[in-house]
Amino acid sequence: MASSATDNRKGTGKGTVAIAADHAGFELKSVLAEEIASLGYDLVDLGTNGPDSVDYPDFGHKAARAITDGAADLGVIVCGTGIGISMAANRHPGVRAAVCHDTVSARLARQHNDANVLALGARLIGVEVAKDCVRTFLATEFEGGRHARRIAKIDDFA
Ligand code: RB5
Repeated sequence: MASSATDNRKGTGKGTVAIAADHAGFELKSVLAEEIASLGYDLVDLGTNGPDSVDYPDFGHKAARAITDGAADLGVIVCGTGIGISMAANRHPGVRAAVCHDTVSARLARQHNDANVLALGARLIGVEVAKDCVRTFLATEFEGGRHARRIAKIDDFA
């Protein structure tokens, strides 16, 4: 797994990925959970697990807490657009959720932004694109250097 400025890996295996979705994203979440597990990561599935309507902030917050608590190293969150659930996750200091629609944004979110949560829109992208985004996000390292200074300024704005 890619290293992070806020690295809280437990040091075993490839690391742990938290995954969460609302009702619009739960089907894609199931596919992505299988993909992530098949790549050798431990998985923490935070729901939702059915089509009943839920509120995306609840699941964005759950995934964010998994990161800040150290239960997971990285997160993948899914709602209809990726927007609402990422807004909730990004309210947690130290969580950097990036909405990505392609592998370039997934790669640069890690390399330049040290994103620790990938947000996907199940109503906007196809399953194969989503799987590619996840594979790229998990495999890509943060570049550090000048980017580390900029990352520090995200939470330091008083
Ligand atoms: C749910 O209908 C939808 O609003 C939600 O999944 C998400 O797209 C919000 O940003």
